[in-house]
Amino acid sequence: MATPKQPFFNFNILILFLFLEPLQVHSVCRNFCNNIPIKYPFGVDDGCGAPQFRHMLNCTTDLFFITPSGNYKVQSIDYNKKSMVIFDPAMSTCSILQPHHDFVMTDIQSVTIPPSPDTIFVLLNCSIDSPVLNHYKSLCFNFSGHSCDELYGSCTAFKLFHLLSNSTPPCCFTSYNTVKFMSMNILDCSHYTSVYNVDSLKGVGPLDWLYGIKLSYSVPDTGCDRCVKTGGMCGFDVETEGMVCICSASNNSTIQCGAGIGMNTGTSLRQSSLLLESFMVIVLIFHLTLL
Ligand SMILES: *[C@@H]1O[C@H](CO)[C@@H](O)[C@H](O)[C@H]1NC(C)=O
Ligand SMILES: *[C@@H]1O[C@H](CO)[C@@H](O)[C@H](O)[C@H]1NC(C)=O
Ligand SMILES: *[C@@H]1O[C@H](CO)[C@@H](O)[C@H](O)[C@H]1NC(C)=O
Ligand SMILES: *[C@@H]1O[C@H](CO)[C@@H](O)[C@H](O)[C@H]1NC(C)=O
Ligand SMILES: *[C@@H]1O[C@H](CO)[C@@H](O)[C@H](O)[C@H]1NC(C)=O
Repeated sequence: MATPKQPFFNFNILILFLFLEPLQVHSVCRNFCNNIPIKYPFGVDDGCGAPQFRHMLNCTTDLFFITPSGNYKVQSIDYNKKSMVIFDPAMSTCSILQPHHDFVMTDIQSVTIPPSPDTIFVLLNCSIDSPVLNHYKSLCFNFSGHSCDELYGSCTAFKLFHLLSNSTPPCCFTSYNTVKFMSMNILDCSHYTSVYNVDSLKGVGPLDWLYGIKLSYSVPDTGCDRCVKTGGMCGFDVETEGMVCICSASNNSTIQCGAGIGMNTGTSLRQSSLLLESFMVIVLIFHLTLL
């Protein structure tokens, strides 16, 4: 009469098999980094995602976007709107004043994942010799009716400029291109900040602005949909950078994880584990009837 334990034992094995198979694919390509989902075209393991975005993300304690000017913390990724919000921990915000520092992207990043048009850079405390106050004045614009005075007046951090100079030091609301073509040293403004989703900030005070940089990316069309629909994850060959559909930890296919095309050990693995699962259910039912 020691049998009551046996059904539970089999039930555990059943659960194990149900979870085993997805784990096999995920051990090749992590699909989460600290609560942020990692999907095509991104990857945090080499050979995962699209090669155009290779070496751009680093998943250590958090998810970081890697650029020549530093690693920026990724705050969110919107896969529907194809955008990613990053934060430069060294930039100033309404509450922290930090000396300027360049924001530099690689040439590939400037093309594949540039800052979105609704992200603006705010150059603060510019010297009177700054190009944006002279020859390149036209690069500065008024955004949603906001002025520098408002920034210097309402943010704890920026009030310091008022106090120290007893006037309103010049500032400039500009686009990424200005920062891209002129370094912060050339721009000659002591501090900078950046704000995103500016289209919705009309009448909203600087304390409630969204500080960070929103990047918008485009997804290369390499037929990844087909691979995902058949249960795979898109990746690439680390040597040739040609597309690979990762079906399981032990085998990759060229296009999809279906029968007949490419190598598809992944599918047969899935089928055999399904068979095993059905067998386990039968065994379980059999044991329960015996009780
Ligand atoms: C499958 O592709 C991934 C990504 O390129 C690679 O890391 C992995 O080693 C490949 N696995 C096999 C069995 O070829
Ligand atoms: C990823 O981040 C870790 C810790 O910040 C760092 O040691 C490592 O060099 C980074 N890797 C890349 C490719 O930047
Ligand atoms: C503002 O810029 C000037 C140089 O143009 C600099 O001397 C001054 O320290 C800056 N103010 C602050 C608060 O950093
Ligand atoms: C921005 O607005 C202010 C006053 O509202 C005006 O004096 C200034 O010329 C405007 N600047 C630009 C670049 O339109
Ligand atoms: C992958 O699958 C193909 C075809 O099913 C097979 O020839 C090859 O040996 C498999 N490779 C590995 C590493 O299992």
